Amino acid sequence: MFEHQDVLAALNGKLPLPKKIEYIHGLLRDRFDFIDRVSIAIYDPKTDLLKTFVHSSNDEDPLILYSARLADSASMKEILKVGRPRVVNDLNIFSKAPAEHTRRIADLKYKSSYTMPMFMNGEFFGFLFFNSHRRNVFDETTLHYLDMVGHLVSLLVIHDMSTTRSLYAIVKTAANMTLHRDVETGAHLDRMSNFARLIAKEVAKKYQLNDELVEHIFLFSPLHDIGKIGISDSILLKPGKLTKAEFDTMKTHASKGGEIIDMMLGNLGLDAFPHAEILRNIALYHHEAINGSGYNGLMDQEIPIEAKIVAVADVFDALTSVRPYKEAWSNDRAFIFLKSMVGTKFDNDCVAALINCRAEVEAIQQRFKEDHLG
Ligand code: C2E
Ligand code: SIN
Ligand code: SIN
Ligand code: FE
Ligand code: FE
Repeated sequence: MFEHQDVLAALNGKLPLPKKIEYIHGLLRDRFDFIDRVSIAIYDPKTDLLKTFVHSSNDEDPLILYSARLADSASMKEILKVGRPRVVNDLNIFSKAPAEHTRRIADLKYKSSYTMPMFMNGEFFGFLFFNSHRRNVFDETTLHYLDMVGHLVSLLVIHDMSTTRSLYAIVKTAANMTLHRDVETGAHLDRMSNFARLIAKEVAKKYQLNDELVEHIFLFSPLHDIGKIGISDSILLKPGKLTKAEFDTMKTHASKGGEIIDMMLGNLGLDAFPHAEILRNIALYHHEAINGSGYNGLMDQEIPIEAKIVAVADVFDALTSVRPYKEAWSNDRAFIFLKSMVGTKFDNDCVAALINCRAEVEAIQQRFKEDHLG
């Protein structure tokens, strides 16, 4: 009675999204051996960026950690306008003036592509691509099957993304509701999370962070100080320097943040969510120092990379912003400070990543200027 094998049974397990996509790609290849690459790009309406998210291919991927503005790709916009999958059975038709991502795909000798726009409750949120090294492979039978698989894959992505989004929204809403206040300004959070993403991308190769992990570091980094909701205004908003006792109280914000997050994960039944650990590590360990002198005394190798990244992003933005207790520093002064603390407080790669991307840092500062709260 149970002789039938459910070939998709692996999807029942606790697997991160890239593993699930790889698995589906493997099954697809059993039937359509010409499908050489499956990939997903997510759209961020705030920045108009289309960002690579997940891919499965045998080659070195041409689009790892790549993002491009949707406005810059005529063909992508056209797909969106039509609202249906686009099939190109010979990518050479783009050889005249291809967008950069299409050129990279063609450079790797992909000849055909199937591109499906993905929607969540009618809202566009990204593209799914199937690519082949062969020409003219996408016939009627194949397309019928790929449409089905495509929609199933998009449901997997929706599930993964909405878990991340609800988790973020619930932690943040609960924090705001309990104390009717935001502990940090929106502009600070936008800037520091974009700095964190920039650093994560730069160190991704060395620390084997794939696109999906980079994206989660970006999404969860604004929650680093969520534990500050447990700190009274008299300390949090004190115009002057904190006393030793006040600072000791202040330091509990990291462990308080960890507790809040664990409680939320438990209440939501999300303890097994694959990326819960990233969120927890960011809240708990964003004030660790390389030499062990941070809040919990973790040493260099014991500090998770996401916490090292967020530490640099957060401190850089704290230094270059006005605080109730300090003036804003210039970027030059902040860079010199970060460099002087490499190896004692901060991770060398993370500091170098930020400093090497000065143009992008300044673009982020331009885009997310201080609001009235300062
Ligand atoms: P925050 O304002 O978000 O600052 C985050 C981190 O940026 C600080 O962690 C520190 O590493 C760095 N930072 C910020 N401003 C300065 C600065 O003027 N000089 C230097 N050298 N580093 C700076 P830290 O020190 O563990 O503080 C954690 C939190 O405690 C701060 O978060 C802030 O909310 C509060 N805090 C720290 N010092 C004071 C203070 O003198 N007065 C008040 N009212 N709050 C303070
Ligand atoms: C373009 O967008 O202008 C070229 C083709 C593509 O992006 O696929
Ligand atoms: C891609 O596969 O990532 C883009 C190439 C295309 O189909 O235009
Ligand atoms: Fe903090
Ligand atoms: Fe902060």
